[in-house]
Amino acid sequence: MPRKRSPLIICGAFIFVAWNAILIFVLMRRPSTQGALDSPDELGNMGDRAGGGQFGNIMNKVMHVANAFEAEIESQKKILLQIQSHWSVWENKGGVTSAKSKSQAEHLAPVVIPILVIACNRVTVKRCLDKLIEHRPSAELYPIIVSQDCGHAETSDVIASYGSQLTHIKQPDLSDISVPPQHKKFQGYYKISRHYRWAFNQVFNTFSYSSVVVVEDDLEVAPDFFEYFRALHPILKSDPTLWCVSAWNDNGREGFVDPGKASLLYRTDFFPGLGWMFTKDLWAEIEPKWPASFWDDWMRHPSQRRDRSCIRPEISRTLTFGRKGVSLGQFYDKYLRFIKLNTEFVPFTKMDLSYLEKKKYDESFEKEVYGAPVVTVEDLQSGKLTGSGPFRVQYSSPDSFKTLARNLGVMDDLKSGVPRAGYRGVVHFLFRGKRVYLAPPAGWSQYDPSWS
Ligand code: UD1
Ligand code: MN
Repeated sequence: MPRKRSPLIICGAFIFVAWNAILIFVLMRRPSTQGALDSPDELGNMGDRAGGGQFGNIMNKVMHVANAFEAEIESQKKILLQIQSHWSVWENKGGVTSAKSKSQAEHLAPVVIPILVIACNRVTVKRCLDKLIEHRPSAELYPIIVSQDCGHAETSDVIASYGSQLTHIKQPDLSDISVPPQHKKFQGYYKISRHYRWAFNQVFNTFSYSSVVVVEDDLEVAPDFFEYFRALHPILKSDPTLWCVSAWNDNGREGFVDPGKASLLYRTDFFPGLGWMFTKDLWAEIEPKWPASFWDDWMRHPSQRRDRSCIRPEISRTLTFGRKGVSLGQFYDKYLRFIKLNTEFVPFTKMDLSYLEKKKYDESFEKEVYGAPVVTVEDLQSGKLTGSGPFRVQYSSPDSFKTLARNLGVMDDLKSGVPRAGYRGVVHFLFRGKRVYLAPPAGWSQYDPSWS
């Protein structure tokens, strides 16, 4: 963008010069009994006492003008400072594209992170919105956009009742989607996908935000939900090996996570969704090929993920209360409803999170996982092992992974070869108070998408 500085500067300079001319004119015509700063009478008396007569009078006038000038120069300095500060605000708003002013802008003004709530026909969106508003530290820094599909009037009323606390938008295309006959029962997944595409385009193209946190209407957020995403925003922006930050731990059930480690974060190769942040750049990359249905599993394909990871917490910052959904509670009763929501506020923005950078993380990860002794599930179950671990349980095929995962009580499914919450093939969790790594043999190099 060209620099638009010259017309503004010329205009500013003109006003400044004109102001000075008017000022001098006014001061010269001013009668000696009026003053600007100090009391003119006092000054006059002093002059009388000092010299008296004609000379004293002239001295009085000169001193008076000098004082008035001093005051005017002071007030002009203030005006100039104001012009300067307005100019820098304009620059920071993106009026000037130089790298310096951009980085200054990031430094001065905290980034606005919108929260996009995906809603349809459940009035229980109220629970989601109440918690978001309860924990939101600033409406300016976290504008809530509720995107509603399905045209459900009651749900619409609930959303509208929040007034100016949020922005309510509605997906306009409510038509049925023609799907292959064998997919008739999956119509809902097609609608979700259509809605997501529309809503993301609204956030990035209509509202022009540069990143977003997506929340579905059946999620409740933790007290440090906003703090978590703000702290991780710079890492997401700067690390090309990351493509999302998620609030969700797929294995975050009570007993499987360490309650004393609420501040702990990990990298994962499994796209968790369920309260997640991504950038406009990623949207530009995937929007052209956005799928007609099953968008979340599509995200997990190697051609979308492209070896990138997400950050996830030890203890989830979202809880799902949506038993009755499109997938008909398939997973809900078995797993989802047991995922624990964090309750303690962790000041992530004040913490050093550099341990999450890929190089550092991978080095300590390899050491930690492959430095741990190999044990069997039976060893773990027998209670004979001493200490808090870590211990490693090894798998070598999709079948052995599934059997071991089931026996240990963690999610046993693989999507495009990646286990839930896994990183470099490794799933880690607590088992009866001991840290366990369910891991492939050392020397792992890549996932096998045929493992399912
Ligand atoms: C599951 C996933 C969900 C994913 C969806 C699509 C879990 C717990 N949930 O949905 O993250 O997005 O598969 O693959 O893993 N909705 C619409 N239009 C509709 C129907 C629903 O916009 O016609 C919205 C809902 O408001 C909700 C979201 O889509 O925000 C998911 O719908 P839900 O009914 O909760 O389906 P799940 O089975 O949880
Ligand atoms: Mn749901």
